[in-house]
Amino acid sequence: MKALLCTAFGPIETLSVLEAPSPRPGPSQVLLDVKAASLNFPDILMVQGLYQVKPPLPFSPGVEMSGVIVEAGREVKGFRPGDKVIAFAGWGGFAEECAVDAERLTPLPGGMDFVTGAAFLYTHATSLHALKDRGGLRAGETLLVLGAAGGVGLAAVEIGKCMGARVIAAASSEAKLDLCRRKGADETVNYATGNLRERIREITGDTGVDVVYDPVGGPYTEAALRASAWRGRLLVVGFAAGGIPKIPANLALLKERSIVGVYWGESVRRDPESHLRNSRQLMEWFSAGKVTSAVSERVPLREAPAAMKRMAGREVRGKIVILPES
Ligand SMILES: NC(=O)c1ccc[n+]([C@@H]2O[C@H](COP(=O)([O-])OP(=O)(O)OC[C@H]3O[C@@H](n4cnc5c(N)ncnc54)[C@H](OP(=O)(O)O)[C@@H]3O)[C@@H](O)[C@H]2O)c1
Repeated sequence: MKALLCTAFGPIETLSVLEAPSPRPGPSQVLLDVKAASLNFPDILMVQGLYQVKPPLPFSPGVEMSGVIVEAGREVKGFRPGDKVIAFAGWGGFAEECAVDAERLTPLPGGMDFVTGAAFLYTHATSLHALKDRGGLRAGETLLVLGAAGGVGLAAVEIGKCMGARVIAAASSEAKLDLCRRKGADETVNYATGNLRERIREITGDTGVDVVYDPVGGPYTEAALRASAWRGRLLVVGFAAGGIPKIPANLALLKERSIVGVYWGESVRRDPESHLRNSRQLMEWFSAGKVTSAVSERVPLREAPAAMKRMAGREVRGKIVILPES
């Protein structure tokens, strides 16, 4: 099979498409014919050895994919060859085939195609877990989303609207903010050209925002926390800007604010029932046309490294989907 292989942790340029042996599924795994895989920021961190998960070398990046089961291990229950599924494998999606633990599969719902499926669950389940389970976002509250035109950011915009919040989307270009408005954002802030904290004060008066969804980090985190309300909640989702912010603790004390960590993958492992409930909710919203993947580009496997470079360079809007068989 063809696979994008990482043979040593290092720069994206060192990745190449090679022939690799087909993986053999273990007793509790399935072998997947990968139809589509989405690009996510952790893929970029992982190949550089900068992510909390370090797969054994060599490996293919690609945390999430969709495809058809071609073989099922003897202990697998509930799935069989021919089933169409979404798989959160952790890595391995940028290849024609992938062996995946059956517990990491979700049936591809009717009405959802492979491209949409490959780019849906990871981002949306992360954002629903963050906003509902960790942030306690309530209808009528104000939500500020940083990096709002990125993968998890756009999902947070959509889900914030589904939960009845007033959503302020912050991003670094007008084209990105246009996309956020099309996804339902009520207000927008260009934090590359304007002052985030002042703009939030213009929008909310002296009140501030109730919840900050932060997948970006760097200098934006403190500005966003300072723009949050009495008992505001800062959701620490990721550090796409590279810098891990150091927050003065008095900002929490002065307005009884909470700084709350979000680690979706680990939360699924510890509380699979809650993940199942959230997945069902997301599929209901998808069927009702309230949420979907924001796929901006479909690229063949050989162009995956260039796509990863664009993501690292902050040039991507919404989601890029890799098509391993094209
Ligand atoms: N905690 C969890 O469970 C969890 C789950 C999934 C993902 N994550 C994390 O969430 C973050 C975002 O992931 P994603 O897949 O949504 O990525 P993405 O699509 O690339 O979005 C990240 C956004 O960050 C902004 N950004 C600001 N400075 C940047 C820089 N120097 N380089 C790149 N982007 C920059 C960009 O928006 P602007 O240009 O508009 O600023 C970009 O759209 C990552 O850190 C990822 O590891 C965490």
